[in-house]
Amino acid sequence: CQGDPNWLKPRGVEQRNEGLRWLREDRTPPGGAREEGVVYFADDDNTYSLQLFQEMRSTQKVSVWPVGLVGAMKYESPVVQEGKVVGFHTGWRPSRPFPIDMAGFAVSLRLLLAHADACFDGEAPQGFLESSLLQGLVTVNELEPKAVNCTKVLVWHTRTEKPKLKREEALQAQGLGSDPAVEV
Ligand SMILES: *[C@@H]1O[C@H](CO)[C@@H](O)[C@H](O)[C@H]1NC(C)=O
Repeated sequence: CQGDPNWLKPRGVEQRNEGLRWLREDRTPPGGAREEGVVYFADDDNTYSLQLFQEMRSTQKVSVWPVGLVGAMKYESPVVQEGKVVGFHTGWRPSRPFPIDMAGFAVSLRLLLAHADACFDGEAPQGFLESSLLQGLVTVNELEPKAVNCTKVLVWHTRTEKPKLKREEALQAQGLGSDPAVEV
């Protein structure tokens, strides 16, 4: 509805699902010769380092990395220990199955073809759109951290406006703010 804040309903669900449908139809040839590829959901309100696209090339199942200036934080990120994702740095609903922004993951085409029913749920509650796809594809334990074990920010939710950092400030006041050593 007009006047609603822009996050009330997930947007772009039909377009992303249509992209998935097209890939599954077009890329499932006899012999499977064209199954190599990595799928990433880019958006025009983000800014990307070209290095990000190098990072995601080696995706086996689902790769993940930090996203800058998102969720009213300096950055959100998977928390990585000994090369494995063990949790998530986020200021908002950390209990979501995959508290990861759309810009923070890529999926191998092979995995998408192997899970023909996985798609985005347009009825998912706010913040659960990414989870609705990822739950049909992987477990948190299987996520592949990129960007030097999720210590580098290579994509920013810039929206061409001044970033909102109120959750960052609230967490900072509790001593739980983002790592100041991470350059955003
Ligand atoms: C990520 O961490 C693991 C385990 O500590 C380490 O073996 C690996 O080299 C690190 N990767 C990068 C790109 O630094």
